[in-house]
Amino acid sequence: MKTVLIGKNGQLGWEFQRTLPPLGEVVSLGRDELDVADHHAVQKTLIELRPNLIINASAYTDVDLAETQIELAMGINAIAPGVMAEIARKTNAVFIHYSTDYVFDGKHNTPYTENDPTNPLNIYGKSKLMGEENIKQAGGAYLILRTSWVYSLRGNSFVNKVLGWARKNKTLKIVSDQVSSPTWARMLAETTTQVITTNKANLLDILRESCGIYHLAGSGHTSRYEWAKRIIANDPNRTEQLVQTIEPALSVDFPTLATRPLFSVLSCEKFTGTFDLRPQNWEYALQQAMTE
Ligand SMILES: NC(=O)c1ccc[n+]([C@@H]2O[C@H](COP(=O)([O-])OP(=O)(O)OC[C@H]3O[C@@H](n4cnc5c(N)ncnc54)[C@H](OP(=O)(O)O)[C@@H]3O)[C@@H](O)[C@H]2O)c1
Repeated sequence: MKTVLIGKNGQLGWEFQRTLPPLGEVVSLGRDELDVADHHAVQKTLIELRPNLIINASAYTDVDLAETQIELAMGINAIAPGVMAEIARKTNAVFIHYSTDYVFDGKHNTPYTENDPTNPLNIYGKSKLMGEENIKQAGGAYLILRTSWVYSLRGNSFVNKVLGWARKNKTLKIVSDQVSSPTWARMLAETTTQVITTNKANLLDILRESCGIYHLAGSGHTSRYEWAKRIIANDPNRTEQLVQTIEPALSVDFPTLATRPLFSVLSCEKFTGTFDLRPQNWEYALQQAMTE
């Protein structure tokens, strides 16, 4: 099996670079090798490489900047995935893509299912939702995995931000009215890879049959405030921390360019029921991620 991984240097892409090689040939592309905002380049590259499986881990993920870089966010999150899905259909390849809890408006108080109506509050959410629509319209064998609050110990994740703030401040104020499920990028890559591995012999037919949108995020849910407290408690270098107090705050006290949904917990029952795989509990995953 030949796989093309797009967005190899992101949180998720990085983890895929570890999990995919046992499956066969993997061509991993970063922004330098393939700029997905260049849709002709996307077409040309995928037609030349002719993979059996395309995994798109690239995305425009700066939620606030997207409010002012609308065209670029749309080009990367809305149009490019449609182009990838179209090529996948034409070449009989499977297409795996990721979307977001930010397609919802957060007005629920129970976990969102795949059948719940979407209503994104910001440009990022709108661009990701348009990406979903374009993939669906292209047809073919695709999986769209909506996830939430993705982190890794690399880069500018919430986990690394909290660790940095805890070293510079005695008091931290963290919003307690945003609730979702932290998702370790490694869990996301490993669970996706398990779906591929289990169905490898017949991947195209199986994903044609079960193609669609699925929710896949760390199990359980929490607020950003409680998440930050767990991050600080799990810090293996606690002696470097200055922080003494962590206070809950409200989103309205921290105005941002993009409005975020307050409650965006995703129900993963459809994914578990279909693929017989259960996502790891968020607290356990965080502990593992921070102590490895
Ligand atoms: N992060 C979250 O909290 C979150 C929540 C819900 C859903 N998701 C979704 O989960 C998926 C993975 O997210 P992530 O957290 O791994 O994102 P990430 O760490 O921000 O990685 C995104 C990757 O996309 C690449 N990229 C951006 N623009 C590109 C372009 N024009 N051409 C080629 N590559 C480009 C980036 O390249 P550079 O490395 O060069 O910048 C980066 O490597 C995405 O679909 C995202 O929308 C993420």
